[in-house]
Amino acid sequence: MLQIQEVTKVYEGKVTTRALNQLSFEVEKGEFVAVMGPSGSGKTTLLNLISMIDVPTSGDIVFNGKRPRQLNSKELAYFRRRQLGFIFQDFNLLPMLTVEENIILPLTLDEQPVELMEDRLAALAEKLGLENILQKRPNEISGGQAQRTAIARALIHSPSLILADEPTGNLDSNASREVLELMSQINQEKQTTIMMVTHDPIAASYCDRVIFIKDGEFFNEIYGDERRQTFFQRILNVLSLLGGQVGDFSTIRLP
Ligand SMILES: Nc1ncnc2c1ncn2[C@@H]1O[C@H](COP(=O)(O)OP(=O)(O)OP(=O)(O)O)[C@@H](O)[C@H]1O
Ligand SMILES: [Mg+2]
Repeated sequence: MLQIQEVTKVYEGKVTTRALNQLSFEVEKGEFVAVMGPSGSGKTTLLNLISMIDVPTSGDIVFNGKRPRQLNSKELAYFRRRQLGFIFQDFNLLPMLTVEENIILPLTLDEQPVELMEDRLAALAEKLGLENILQKRPNEISGGQAQRTAIARALIHSPSLILADEPTGNLDSNASREVLELMSQINQEKQTTIMMVTHDPIAASYCDRVIFIKDGEFFNEIYGDERRQTFFQRILNVLSLLGGQVGDFSTIRLP
């Protein structure tokens, strides 16, 4: 459903930075893919290109057979609103709105009928365990609840692709596990394709495949197997080849 074809992104400025260099890979519909790589390797840049926040310097991105580059601005806005869902490290909830209002915001912007909003809201609130906090505001809920709210918001319009940038970066290990299990469940039940940037090998071990990039280039990829523990070990092995911020993960055991 997603093809990244020899994508290069160069940021011009005082110093010119080649953030991505001839990067190519494909993502199948229904896959849950992690993208890992050292700080500065181009991961956020890649998500920004896929979500059309920014355009490649060269190369192409094909999404469900379309090249979003060729859409006009109105088509592009529609495409982004309908096809994509976003989950960020810092949740990005609007502080003035309640949890409920934050979740239905994409539908409100799309002027969808109230009944549809209520149905979808009820279903997601139940699934994500948000029923008792719908009237609260973001500063009155925990980090895990905030991220589950953001996931509900990303899902409310049934996007075909969810892009997540370090979704567990601000969560403790219990809340992380909850969020990852939910993402994995949504991926399996709804066949929603998910692409998740993460530094955390435990988070990556929930995915079907991990793509590693280094200095803006494809470095390696590995596929998961039946056991998350062995996949986790294999992820650590590639990270140690990759260098950078790998540190002391090797002694971690999965909970
Ligand atoms: N808007 C920008 N203008 C200029 N250079 C940029 C811009 N955004 C990113 N870069 C540079 O491009 C490279 C890739 O940055 P990017 O944010 O994609 O890295 P990353 O892999 O997401 O890193 P991290 O793990 O720290 O979030 C870096 O060298 C960065 O300094
Ligand atoms: Mg980043």
